[in-house]
Amino acid sequence: MVLKAGVVGLGILGSQYTTFLDEQPETQVVGVADIRSEVAREVGAPVGAESYDDYERMFQEQTLDLAVVATPDPLHRDPVMAAIEAGVPVVIQEKPMATTVEDADAMLEAAEEVGAWIFVNYANRGAALDRATYYVIREGLLGEVVYGEIHLDDNISVPRQLWGDRSEDWAAGSSTAYFLLSHVVDLLHWVMAPSEVTEVYAISQERVLGYTPDLYDAFLTFDNGAKFRVKAEWIKHIDGLVEFALDFSGSEGTLRYIKYPGFGEAEGWRANLSESVTAEALLTHQNALAEQDIDVRAQVQMGKPAAAAVAAAEIGPQVSLEAKALPKDEWRVVRGFVDAVLEDTLTPSSWQGYGPLPTGIDGLRQTQVVSAIVQSAEEDRVITLP
Ligand SMILES: NC(=O)c1ccc[n+]([C@@H]2O[C@H](COP(=O)([O-])OP(=O)(O)OC[C@H]3O[C@@H](n4cnc5c(N)ncnc54)[C@H](O)[C@@H]3O)[C@@H](O)[C@H]2O)c1
Repeated sequence: MVLKAGVVGLGILGSQYTTFLDEQPETQVVGVADIRSEVAREVGAPVGAESYDDYERMFQEQTLDLAVVATPDPLHRDPVMAAIEAGVPVVIQEKPMATTVEDADAMLEAAEEVGAWIFVNYANRGAALDRATYYVIREGLLGEVVYGEIHLDDNISVPRQLWGDRSEDWAAGSSTAYFLLSHVVDLLHWVMAPSEVTEVYAISQERVLGYTPDLYDAFLTFDNGAKFRVKAEWIKHIDGLVEFALDFSGSEGTLRYIKYPGFGEAEGWRANLSESVTAEALLTHQNALAEQDIDVRAQVQMGKPAAAAVAAAEIGPQVSLEAKALPKDEWRVVRGFVDAVLEDTLTPSSWQGYGPLPTGIDGLRQTQVVSAIVQSAEEDRVITLP
C-alpha cells in the first residue's frame, strides 16, 4: 500500500519532510503547498508533486492519506483544521503543537470528533541516546529521579538569520519557550510519565533582541515531587548552532547527556547507576539496548584517587553505561508515524519499548506547560496546572 501525502509549509522542515517521504517506498508526496508559490514549485517539482499556493485547494483536489503541517510556530492551527475538515485521516505536525492552549484544544477536539489522528513530531524521542535515557530512567536504574537540569540554547544567528529576511518576524511570532523548550518539556513528559508537571515558575530576559525574549529559565515541579530547571536562550555567541545538555539526578544514580556540546565539552552520554545493579544485570541492560541498536558500554570503575586528607571519601566502584556520540536518528519518529498508519496502531513494530508515539494529547500537555512558562515569566508568579 502506498500512502498519499501532502505537505503544507515548505521551508526548512517542510522541504526535508518532502524529501524524506519521497524516499520511503510506502509514501508518495502528491501535493505540496506554501504561500510562497515559487518555493512550492521548487519543492514539488523534484518529487513530481502538484504544487499549490493555497492548502485549502490542495485538500479539495487531492485525496490524501496523510498531511504534514510545517508552517511557522503560531500558524499550525488553520492548516491542521483545514486538513481535518477536508477528511484527511492523519495529520503529522511539527513541534510545538501550538503557541496557545486554545489552538491546541481546538485541533485536538476537531480530530477527536471525526476520529482523525494528530501526531506531533518531537524528534528527540527518536535519537538513540534519548531512547537510552528513557530506558535507564524507566528501568529505575537511577533510583527515583528527583532533580534535573536541562539547557537547550541556539546561536544568536537563529533568531537573527535562520529564516533569511523573515527571521525577525518569525522569531517575534515564537520564542525560545515555544521553539526550544517545547522539545525539553516533551522529553520530560515522555521520560517521567505518568508523572506530569503541576507547578511552573519562570523568568525571562528581554535586553538584547527586542522583538522576542532573549531567553526563558524555568523551574518545573512534577506531581511526584521531582523538580527540573529548564533553560533556553536565543542570545548565545557560540561555535555551533545549538548547545543541548541534560542532567538527571536520581536517588541512587546520575545521568549526564551532552547532546550538542559547547565550549570545552564533548558529545557523550553516561549513566552512573544504582549500586544495587549487579554486574550480571548491567550486562542484561547493555544487551537490551544493543537489541535496539543502541551501542552503550557497560563498565565498572573506581573513582579518581582522592588526596590522602580526604581518603575517607573514597569514590566507587561505580557501575555505569556509557556511550560516545551516536546517530541522532532525526526521522525515526516520523518513520514511526508512517508505520503506525500502515499497521493501524500507535505502537507499530518499528516503535517498541518507548511508549506510544507522540500524539496531539502529548502536544496539548506540551502546549499547556510551555504556555505556563510564558505566563509565569510575564506575571512573575507560580502557575499551577491541573
Ligand atoms: N528550523 C528548524 O531547525 C526546526 C527544527 C525543528 C522543528 N521546526 C519546526 O518546524 C516548523 C517549521 O519551521 P521552519 O524552520 O521549517 O520554518 P520556515 O519558515 O522555514 O517554513 C515555514 C513555511 O511555511 C510557509 N507558510 C507560512 N504561512 C503559510 C500558510 N498560511 N500556508 C502555507 N504555507 C505557509 C512559509 O512560507 C515557509 O515556507 C516550526 O513549527 C518549527 O518550530 C523547525
